[in-house]
Amino acid sequence: MTDAVRLTAVRKVYGRRDNEVVALDGVTTRFGRGTFTAIMGPSGSGKSTLLQCAAGLDQPTSGSVLLEDHELSEMDETELTALRRERIGFVFQSFNLLPVLTVRQNVTLPLRLAGRRPAAGRVSAALDQVGLGTRGHHRPSELSGGQQQRVAIARALITDPAVIFADEPTGALDTRTARDILALLQRSAQDAGQTIVMVTHDPVAASYADRVLFLADGRLAGELRAPTAESVAERMTRLGAFTDERPLSRAGTNREGQR
Ligand SMILES: Nc1ncnc2c1ncn2[C@@H]1O[C@H](COP(=O)(O)OP(=O)(O)OP(=O)(O)O)[C@@H](O)[C@H]1O
Ligand SMILES: [Mg+2]
Repeated sequence: MTDAVRLTAVRKVYGRRDNEVVALDGVTTRFGRGTFTAIMGPSGSGKSTLLQCAAGLDQPTSGSVLLEDHELSEMDETELTALRRERIGFVFQSFNLLPVLTVRQNVTLPLRLAGRRPAAGRVSAALDQVGLGTRGHHRPSELSGGQQQRVAIARALITDPAVIFADEPTGALDTRTARDILALLQRSAQDAGQTIVMVTHDPVAASYADRVLFLADGRLAGELRAPTAESVAERMTRLGAFTDERPLSRAGTNREGQR
């Protein structure tokens, strides 16, 4: 099959009866191999939940997730862990770097956990790719937010995963660094055939993708192919994610609220 990931009727409900939150309400979609998809939607619309369910980090309440022909709901935790290590790279919204490890150690961790030795030069190349070639021996606390974010990206790329899930990977980056990272993700899809699924609030970031999926209240609310920053912004405005009166402050609030 040509799909890297396929979600069918994925539903995720948090909490119990009285304070139930339906984070995903029946999402069906597919991510073709070698494609780059952006996921957008208002804060709380279920983007992170979608990514975590698709990556086997969280279990849907119902529905099916097929990752390279593996039905995730049929796998036990050991099998899921192995699949995540071998096939998936994940960039967390909150970076999730280990503070006691250096940058290099953080980046090589997925390889070491998988019992693989990093090939000579591979770690330095990964750090160079994200512009952190000279910071390998620093600890995360000695880096800026954007630099930490780039370590998290290098860590997700180091195993050459088939599928890379990235939750706002450019949220902490300046415009120019963000552009470099987005181009890197784009090349990973186009040249290396990796499948990229990226959550973003930024229409310019989304325009690097081949396709944008819009989420609202846990449901798919449309999609755009060959997106431009303008067409994405227009769609987001209609979803109520950006208001006409306060387009920047509203988006800014979302971002601040996440850190
Ligand atoms: N562990 C949890 N327990 C209870 N509710 C949760 C949990 N995780 C997420 N939710 C709820 O599920 C909904 C979707 O959350 P999610 O984090 O997927 O949103 P999001 O689209 O990523 O938002 P943002 O843009 O702010 O990151 C929200 O209403 C959130 O409060
Ligand atoms: Mg989120």
